Amino acid sequence: MNILILGSGGRESALAWKLAQSKKVEKVFVAPGNAGTMNYGTNLKINPNDFSEVKNAVLTSKVQMVVVGPEDPLVNGIHDFFLEDDELKSIPVIGPQSEAALLEGSKEFAKEFMKRHDIPTARYQSFTEDKLHEAYQFLEYLTPPYVLKADGLAGGKGVLILNDLEEAKKELKEMLSHHKFGEASAKVVIEDFLDGIEMSSFVLTDGENYVILPNAKDYKRIGEGDQGLNTGGMGAVSPVPFANAEFLEKVESRIIKPTVEGLKKDGIPYVGFIFIGLIKVNGEPYVIEYNVRMGDPETEVVIPRIKSDLADLLTAVADKKLDQFNLETDERSAATVMLVSGGYPASYERGKLISGLDQVKDSIVFHAGTDLKDDQVISNGGRVLSVTSFGKDFKEALKQSYQSIEKIDFDQMNFRKDIGFDL
Ligand code: AMP
Ligand code: GLY
Repeated sequence: MNILILGSGGRESALAWKLAQSKKVEKVFVAPGNAGTMNYGTNLKINPNDFSEVKNAVLTSKVQMVVVGPEDPLVNGIHDFFLEDDELKSIPVIGPQSEAALLEGSKEFAKEFMKRHDIPTARYQSFTEDKLHEAYQFLEYLTPPYVLKADGLAGGKGVLILNDLEEAKKELKEMLSHHKFGEASAKVVIEDFLDGIEMSSFVLTDGENYVILPNAKDYKRIGEGDQGLNTGGMGAVSPVPFANAEFLEKVESRIIKPTVEGLKKDGIPYVGFIFIGLIKVNGEPYVIEYNVRMGDPETEVVIPRIKSDLADLLTAVADKKLDQFNLETDERSAATVMLVSGGYPASYERGKLISGLDQVKDSIVFHAGTDLKDDQVISNGGRVLSVTSFGKDFKEALKQSYQSIEKIDFDQMNFRKDIGFDL
């Protein structure tokens, strides 16, 4: 089988790495990929959001399955595009159609879905500009901190948490009236602040059945101790030590099952990954958000812990036979540490020569933002490399990643030295 993975980050590197190990897979294509994905297959210089380019590539390269990494092609309807095209409709796409992608593409849609299906989440109301006055009243009724969420996709920046009522009102007005996050904040969800510890569950569903993949916890802030600006993710561990069997049972019965059942009841087809951002409050799980894809860098710890053949697993999804699939996972822990460009997540320079990659023997280095220049690997993004290791627990895995990182260098390389600090 030939498989095309759409995307170019660490997540897509981990998917390509795993699929390249499958005997069922003849060729792996990654579009557009990076300098690391070339080690597992062929990079195609196409834009995942240009569906006619994707179609050409699929037909030319005889692709038999498409795995969508990031959310935007899904929200833009790539799966729908395949289903509506006579030449493409028999080729399975792993990733939901645009209606289900609203679980990530619209916070209001996700909140309404959870309310309808009794899935635990923070209480909320949503407002548009013409209801600014009511929105202020709702803020006055709540207690701080105040959580404001742009309804639409805002590149991970659309959530504000504010302690001061006046500041919350000011930011709300910025979002609704002055388009702080463009179209994405034309509607704002205001919700209760939940105080707890976060983690993520990953589910693969064929629309009827589901399998639960290894769970993970990521570290989003740039600075140690979870300080500073939000990033795409600076590191992750799997499994999450505080997620014991009792807690995970609650997650499955109160959240995962009702989510898959709810999609069915609503008549919304779903084929693909569901990434559920959870928070544990007084021992109980609540949903913070849904994403309709895998997480990055969570994929860099989740995928290495899957022992089963990933092509078999994804084929079972496409064939709606997940109920017959027995997922095998690695008992060991995995941890990943992201090496980022100096200045990220604000402005940073690209094009830095990366040294030492071939010295790393005891970790897997997934490329996130890299390119090749004169056959040398250079940085080409904020998040550059994700260094994953195994261990008997997350501490041992992290120790190995930090040892491997000592061998790697590029100008202004930065990383968090405290991944897992709160566990
Ligand atoms: P989201 O984009 O919805 O994941 O929100 C980004 C981050 O904001 C989450 O990872 C949480 O750390 C935080 N957050 C979102 N909603 C809440 C909430 N209701 N209570 C506390 N923290 C929240
Ligand atoms: N690491 C968080 C995300 O992928 O959204």
